[in-house]
Amino acid sequence: MISPLKLANTPTPFYRLSRISELWNGNIWIKRDDLSGTGLSGNKVRKLEYLLADAIDKKADTIITCGGVQSNHCRATALASVRIGLKCTLLLRGEKPAVIDGNLLFDMLSGADIHFISEDRYNSNLDQELNNLASEVNVSKGKAYIIPEGGSNPVGAWGYVQALSELRQQCFEQNVKPNRIICATGSGGTHAGLLSGALIENWDVDIVSVTVGYDREETVNRIMEIINGMIDIYKLNIRIRKSDIKVIEGYLGEGYAKAGNEVIDVISEMARNEGVIVDPVYAGKAATAIKYETAKGMMKGTTVFWHTGGIFGLFPFKNRFKY
Ligand SMILES: Cc1ncc(COP(=O)(O)O)c(C=O)c1O
Repeated sequence: MISPLKLANTPTPFYRLSRISELWNGNIWIKRDDLSGTGLSGNKVRKLEYLLADAIDKKADTIITCGGVQSNHCRATALASVRIGLKCTLLLRGEKPAVIDGNLLFDMLSGADIHFISEDRYNSNLDQELNNLASEVNVSKGKAYIIPEGGSNPVGAWGYVQALSELRQQCFEQNVKPNRIICATGSGGTHAGLLSGALIENWDVDIVSVTVGYDREETVNRIMEIINGMIDIYKLNIRIRKSDIKVIEGYLGEGYAKAGNEVIDVISEMARNEGVIVDPVYAGKAATAIKYETAKGMMKGTTVFWHTGGIFGLFPFKNRFKY
């Protein structure tokens, strides 16, 4: 078992959203992983505690990872690499934008070596592109460590097995018995870690995620693959069936990194009622699902909204809000 670095400010706060509960007619609590740090914040930090410990064990000096131009994972990886004295190379999907904003601004400030590639090349040839960057590092006598998109592999997902334990302790201390825990899902590592954690601890709580990228089937398959990887590597005594993996779709709107007006409204509602900022790409879509599924009567009892961070992704959307 890898012993993790300490990068995240944990335990992150856990409390009831009393005004939103009243407004949305539910009993909604929040786990604030958006507060796991400042620039180095959100769900990715918990994964990086394990991934970067593994990179150090393997004597790497350069971390290579990839994602969208506004990737939270890339921003967190760039800043975490600097924090522990490693170099970082980022492969970003898309063109360099005219305005440097949000996460990309932090990537640039961190001094990461940034490569932009077209969506087509990224989607069709990602592994090869990452391996090419790693070869360049290795040829110049460095040692590269590749982190997959979103840090979602069995090593990174273990951060969320630990996070589940943290929440369970907080629920015990505050006498909260959640029926479900809900988070946004992209590459699937967060859901995979939370679900494995619940199975390991034998905690009777539904782990539900709201897909903001792939369709439900693809998301379930990805989560399944990560959990099977964890079972293999860590010799876990758990069994997983596809039906245990609960993924909600229908809140993607026009696509990844696009937000409909209902998401924009939920972002304002959260800010004005709870002083909590959610982003339009991930946590804002999970919160929107909670609002509408609660209204449909699909979320009775107690819901924990796992805020996975990502607030810098809000800035490129600033013109969508009325002040
Ligand atoms: C803010 C935020 N929330 C949720 C997710 C989804 O996490 P995962 O990729 O582990 O499914 C991401 C992934 O990029 C993210 O940046």
